[in-house]
Formats: sequence, C-alpha cells, structure tokens
Amino acid sequence: MGTFVGLHGRALLLTALQALLTHGQLKEGESVLINGSSGGVGHFAVQIAKAYGAKVTAVCSSKNINFVKALGADQVVAYDKESIHHHDGHYNLIINTHGNLSYKDYKRMGQRGVIVGFTTMGHMTSLLLQGRISKFPLAQFTAEANTADLETLAFLIRDRKIRVHLEKTYSYKEIPEAISYIEAMRTRGKVAMVWESVAGTEEVDAGRNITYS
Ligand SMILES: NC(=O)c1ccc[n+]([C@@H]2O[C@H](COP(=O)([O-])OP(=O)(O)OC[C@H]3O[C@@H](n4cnc5c(N)ncnc54)[C@H](OP(=O)(O)O)[C@@H]3O)[C@@H](O)[C@H]2O)c1
Repeated sequence: MGTFVGLHGRALLLTALQALLTHGQLKEGESVLINGSSGGVGHFAVQIAKAYGAKVTAVCSSKNINFVKALGADQVVAYDKESIHHHDGHYNLIINTHGNLSYKDYKRMGQRGVIVGFTTMGHMTSLLLQGRISKFPLAQFTAEANTADLETLAFLIRDRKIRVHLEKTYSYKEIPEAISYIEAMRTRGKVAMVWESVAGTEEVDAGRNITYS
C-alpha cells in the first residue's frame, strides 16, 4: 500500500504533536482531554498522546465514539449527550482543537491548556486577554515545521503509531464541494483530493484507513 500524506496532512500532524508536547508539555502517565478529537488535528492528537503513554479522554459527537475508541481513546465524552461546559472531569492537560471552550472550562477541568483553534474572533480575543491577566497556563500557538519534530513524526509513522483516516476523497473537479464539506467542520479524520490524470497517482477508497509501508 502506498504512503499518502499531503502537505496539509503534515501540517495537522505537526499541529497535534506541538500542541501535546511542545506547548502542552505532556508527560507519560498524564491525563489529557482532547476536545474535537475526531477531526484532522484531533484524530492525530489522540494517537500521538497514546503513543506517549497518556490517558486520553476524547470529546466528539456520538457518531464518532467508536472511531475515537479505535484510535486508542480510553474514555469518550459525547458533547451531544453531555455538555462539555458542565463536565466535571479533571485532567493534567486540555487540548482544544474545536475551539469552543471558555476560559472557565480550561480552569475547571485542567492544570494547563493549549488552544489549537477558535470559534470566533471575539472568542479568540476574550481568551487571549484572560490568558494574559491570569496565572493559569494557557498556550496558543501556530504550528511551525522543524527537523526534530518531522523526524519524531517519521518515527511514529514508521512504527505504525499513527494512521491517517481518510473519510472521503474528492476528484479535482469537485473542489468546491470538498471545501464546503471541510468548512462544515464535521470531518472524520481527513478528506483528500485525487488528481486522476496525474501518472502514478493512486486512487484511494473513501473511508479506508491508510497505513504506512
Ligand atoms: N494552531 C495551529 O497551528 C493550527 C493548525 C491547523 C489547524 N488549526 C485549527 O484547528 C482547528 C481544527 O482543525 P481540524 O482540521 O482538526 O478541523 P476538522 O477536521 O474540521 O475537525 C473538527 C472536529 O471538531 C468536532 N466538533 C464539532 N463540533 C464540536 C463541538 N461542539 N465540540 C467538540 N468537538 C466538535 C468535529 O467532530 P464531530 O463530527 O464528532 O462533531 C470534527 O471532528 C481549526 O480551527 C483550525 O483552524 C490550528
């Protein structure tokens, strides 16, 4: 089976790794809650956290419970059954890819937090301002490529600790449909574009887990 990781896939892998290790300072044996665990960043974050020996609680919709468990999540909170804003679990680290957590949510549930995404500009401003005036360790970052992290990811992929889940593939003729689907932020894993006319490009079946060989 061929290797299939596009440029965007590498960016999301780096984002997940740096959220957990660089900014989250995750240690073996710690507990981490990953809010938005079934999407592009989240499904990598669950697998990387498990590879580093963390206890993972994944937050996603009910339809993705089995998916995140298959990725290795120890516990799942389905946000359409239990509001994350009233969840009373306590974790060493909170990783928020979906972006809907308030400052109070981070403080109530975590010892430290990492913001990966935001829902709105207002939400972003409010969180960053509160982060500046409080002692609670809340990090926000933009992922950047570096050799050490790319090598770490290469080892994790080689050792089959990370799989890419491709939910759908789109033809290059369907780019508008693909963008609309991605913008809805309900992706399970990743979606990919397939350029059928390019010699050597391998057609990938939608919904198939891609492993590395
Ligand atoms: N900081 C950086 O350097 C960096 C880099 C890349 C991306 N990002 C940001 O990271 C964010 C996530 O990107 P992505 O590519 O992972 O997005 P994505 O693939 O669209 O995934 C979004 C996930 O959010 C989940 N979700 C939807 N509503 C939710 C809710 N109310 N509570 C919890 N989860 C919910 C969805 O799961 P269900 O279908 O189960 O609801 C979906 O799997 C974006 O804001 C993006 O801009 C930041």
